[in-house]
Amino acid sequence: NKPAVLVARAIFPEVLQTLQQHFEVTSNQADVLWNPEQLAFAAKGVAGILTTGSERIDAALLAACPDLKICANMAVGYNNFDVAAMTTARVVATNTPDVLTETTADFGFALILAAARRMTEGEHFLRAGLWNRWRYDMLAGAEVHGTTLGILGMGRIGQAIAKRGAHGFGMRVIYHNRSRLDAVTEGVCAASFVSKQDLLQQADHLILVLPYSTESHHAIGVAELAQMKPTATLVNIARGGIVDDVALAAALKAGALAAAGLDVFEGEPRVHPDLLTLPNVVLTPHIASATLRTRRAMAQLAAANLIGFLLHGKALTPLNALQ
Ligand code: GLV
Ligand code: GLV
Repeated sequence: NKPAVLVARAIFPEVLQTLQQHFEVTSNQADVLWNPEQLAFAAKGVAGILTTGSERIDAALLAACPDLKICANMAVGYNNFDVAAMTTARVVATNTPDVLTETTADFGFALILAAARRMTEGEHFLRAGLWNRWRYDMLAGAEVHGTTLGILGMGRIGQAIAKRGAHGFGMRVIYHNRSRLDAVTEGVCAASFVSKQDLLQQADHLILVLPYSTESHHAIGVAELAQMKPTATLVNIARGGIVDDVALAAALKAGALAAAGLDVFEGEPRVHPDLLTLPNVVLTPHIASATLRTRRAMAQLAAANLIGFLLHGKALTPLNALQ
């Protein structure tokens, strides 16, 4: 009698096959977007769920699914999980750290470059047939190499971005984090710890790589944006809600900030309409970890967590200590 498992969104067929070898699998290969009631209905009686960032696992879902033992999130971020409620219900929570670190850091740098060097603005200009309007300062953006890179949140991804900045682009790297890195790690990253205020005031390019929580909600709002250089770029590859999107749009419109690169938004997949109308913001639909190799690795790790825990009593990358 195989345990029952729900795959809440469409997934790589080969990962589904692996799960089917071990479990009685219900999967949402049609990729229907379920509301919380539909998710709870589909999850009734299952021992495990493979989730993505779009499924909320909270007390209501847990109460409706008393047989649930583990939720394996196919993402490193897990703000869609109420981990405290899961721990109380004795449900293991797992995420997918490490496998996406370098890929996500690459994308962070892509957004810094695209925003600072006005790449999407240039593409729109070219496609609109405006190239004949060349002049000496056409689409002139901000320098990236040799400038100061600010990193808010210095976990694995922040450290991988620091290395790219310091070693690839000759940047001075400063960071702020809840806790300071040890001296050896700071040396490897060539990064200096500064206060949040110094980070905001000194960064030519500021990138956000911190987890979303009530603590980091609107960590970048009106007051923080006002401290930044008007020539600076702001990049968010972490989570929507860390930036106050209304305040950001106003700052970009007023010229209080030169440019932004955003992969995440408050209330995704909705994007604040003001951001959609601004030329100096590069917008991408939450794809920082989206290479085929990395997405496959994330799916396989999520599956391995379900197999590890439900068959062998040990999840690989647990977020709560229940095993
Ligand atoms: C994507 O945002 C992730 O958290 O992996
Ligand atoms: C994510 O896991 C990070 O450490 O930045």
